Parts: sequence; C-alpha cells; structure tokens
Amino acid sequence: MTDITIIGTGNMARGLVTRAAAAGKSVQLLAREDKAKADALAADLGVDVSTGVVGEDVTGEIVIPAVYFDAAKEIVTRYGDSLTGKVYIDITNPVDFSTFDGLAVPAGSSATEELQKATPAKVVKAFNTTFAATLAEGAVAGHALDVLIAGDDEAATQAVVEFVAAAGLNPVVVGPQRRAQQLEQTGFLHILLSANEQLPVFQWNSALKVLAAA
Ligand SMILES: NC(=O)c1ccc[n+]([C@@H]2O[C@H](COP(=O)([O-])OP(=O)(O)OC[C@H]3O[C@@H](n4cnc5c(N)ncnc54)[C@H](OP(=O)(O)O)[C@@H]3O)[C@@H](O)[C@H]2O)c1
Repeated sequence: MTDITIIGTGNMARGLVTRAAAAGKSVQLLAREDKAKADALAADLGVDVSTGVVGEDVTGEIVIPAVYFDAAKEIVTRYGDSLTGKVYIDITNPVDFSTFDGLAVPAGSSATEELQKATPAKVVKAFNTTFAATLAEGAVAGHALDVLIAGDDEAATQAVVEFVAAAGLNPVVVGPQRRAQQLEQTGFLHILLSANEQLPVFQWNSALKVLAAA
C-alpha cells in the first residue's frame, strides 16, 4: 500500500507529486501507457516513488487522477469496483473547450458528482482552483495556497484536509460534494482571467485566496 496514487504525468501530476513528497507521503505514479514517462517525472523531481502504468492496481489510499474529465471518466470505468473504499480527489475543471464559455457538465451537476455516479470511491473535490505552476512552491507571493475542498464523506474529506495541510497548503472545506459546482465555476473564472491578455495581473502563476478578518 502507498498513501497516494497519482495518475498522469502532466502539469498537475508534476505539482501534486511535488507536494505529496513534501508531505512525506509514499506515492505511486501511474503514466497513461508509457512507464518511462512516470520514471522521467520522478527522476526530474528527484523523488522516490513507485511507478507504473494505468491498468496496474491502484495501491494508494487516496487516488488523484491528474487528467482531464473525459479521461477521468475512462479511468473510473476501467478500475470499477476496485476503487471501493478509496478516497478519490477530483481535480478537474470540465471546461467546454469547443466554446470556452462554459462547463461540459449537465446543468445542476459537476464533474465531481458525475464521477461519483460512476465510481464506488469516495469522491472529494480539491485542487481544481490551484494552478499547476503554483503547486511546486505551494505558495504565491509568500502566501500558502488555499485548497478549496468539497466532499460528502466526512472521513474522506478529512483525509484530503490532512494531506493538504501536510503538504504545507491551507485547506478550506467549503461544504458538501455538490459545492463542486461552485468550485468548478470558480476554477473556470480563474482560467478566464488568466487567459485574458487585457488583464496581465492575472497569470497562470496566480492564486485565489480567501482572507479571514483579523
Ligand atoms: N493545469 C492547471 O493549472 C490545472 C489547475 C487545476 C486543475 N487542472 C485540471 O487538472 C487536470 C490535468 O490538467 P494538466 O494541466 O495536468 O493536463 P496535462 O498536462 O495535459 O496532463 C494530462 C495527463 O493526462 C494523461 N492522460 C490523458 N488521457 C488519459 C487517459 N485516458 N488515461 C490516463 N491518463 C491520461 C496524459 O498522459 P499522456 O501525456 O501520456 O497522454 C497526461 O499525463 C485537468 O482536469 C485540468 O482541468 C489543471
């Protein structure tokens, strides 16, 4: 068993492996189909993780598919009942890239809720509002990243809170799993701001922060 399984070797996987290593977690890293990609990412980050490819058993108590929503749906289908009892962190922003003007999920739902319908794992939304580029440091302008979290299962949500805090980040539980709808719109807003050349203050290395009153 490992603490965390991360699926994918792209931008978010890079950031999440970095934070998991900082948290002292044992990590299994599964590439899509080329184990060399997982080995290369681990070597580049200088971290000791177990590597493999999608299809191998998921050994982590927490599993984080660091992939787009369509790929996440494929992954939960492929792993089926073997994810029973796992904590599944859904990091996706299901942007409709054909319009770049909305999300590709049914009205009144979210990627998280759609994934929950397809897996026995306990799905918790987190990390969709933190940009990949900011996860390496875990902070922007000296402020630890806020990680907004939404989940229904108390123990699963608490496991995500514990991981986020151990990784040096600031966990903020925003409510039940259906709050993922608002988190996905929030993540999308940050993407729109960062993609807007008229707003150079927002970049792919900026962060959203909730400030408590003093
Ligand atoms: N980038 C950000 O700042 C950011 C922030 C918050 C949330 N997110 C969310 O994080 C997710 C990943 O984004 P990213 O920027 O890391 O994307 P990315 O760099 O393009 O990486 C995507 C990864 O998914 C893998 N993949 C694709 N199809 C797959 C499949 N069917 N099965 C298994 N693995 C598959 C790819 O493997 P191959 O390269 O081998 O094809 C790649 O490693 C997305 O849902 C995005 O909305 C991103």
